Amino acid sequence: MSERPLHEGKLDRAQALSNAQREEMYATISTTPVTPVIGVEIEDVDLTVDVPDDQIEDLTRALANYNVLFFRDQPELTPEQQIRFARRFGELHLHPAAPKDAEHPELFVIHTHGESFVNNGADWHTDVSCDEEPPLGTMLQIHRTPGSGGDTLFANMYAAYDALSERMKSLLDGKIAVHDSERAYRGRYSDKGVDDTGVTFPTADHPVIRTHPVSGRRALYVNETFTKRIRGMTEEESDAILEFLYRHMVRPEFQVRFHWKPNSIAFWDNRCTQHLAMWDYWPNERYGHRVTVKGDKPFYRAN
Ligand SMILES: [Fe+2]
Repeated sequence: MSERPLHEGKLDRAQALSNAQREEMYATISTTPVTPVIGVEIEDVDLTVDVPDDQIEDLTRALANYNVLFFRDQPELTPEQQIRFARRFGELHLHPAAPKDAEHPELFVIHTHGESFVNNGADWHTDVSCDEEPPLGTMLQIHRTPGSGGDTLFANMYAAYDALSERMKSLLDGKIAVHDSERAYRGRYSDKGVDDTGVTFPTADHPVIRTHPVSGRRALYVNETFTKRIRGMTEEESDAILEFLYRHMVRPEFQVRFHWKPNSIAFWDNRCTQHLAMWDYWPNERYGHRVTVKGDKPFYRAN
């Protein structure tokens, strides 16, 4: 197998549909791509009502094409409205560590303020990859923004995989990594009244390269929050490879940075993206509601 020339470390644009081609695919929604690589703004959908089937089909296709959907023009959704919309994409996931809303256990309240110890998701990650069946996607509406700051950064893991050399892809082919949540979750929610004494947090093995169950494309699937090591390598080798991948996979050209306005919504595909919630607004407040859709067991399909 020959080495790729250096310029092929750039984005593989030949594999991407042009924005014009993608625009033609949506009859029931308006789409405005945010970057050529990841993220699209969606208009002409009313999330306060039961969204019609043809719009759900278009939104599902848009999620597959752009990996993160942004909605700017929605009112503050009630928990029931947000849960109803998320359920159109699958059963809902219950977070293994975060406190549950008494009335709506599927609702994860995102609230960071001057008394917070930590901010949720402040390192790059894909949600709950420590689960055997990690979430398909996550839908977050931020009701109250800090004014400036509090952006969320998303990175496209297809693009990160595509930009690796053939030699590196071969090295990672079929490798399995351990995802462990002890470090991420122990004590994380103590400022929200959670006592996790005696609690065992989930751990799971997943392929380093994941085949997306809908698109069939390959995406890098390790992240610095949950991935502990790559099996079948020495600890030093695993550390070095992971360190390289963590830097590589969040290169700026794979990213979109979303600035929240009150009631903005983001819906991202956890199977092919990573994200980071910027905590640059302390002691100001940021509040929102997150609902997460269940996913299936990650797999890798060799050629
Ligand atoms: Fe997250």
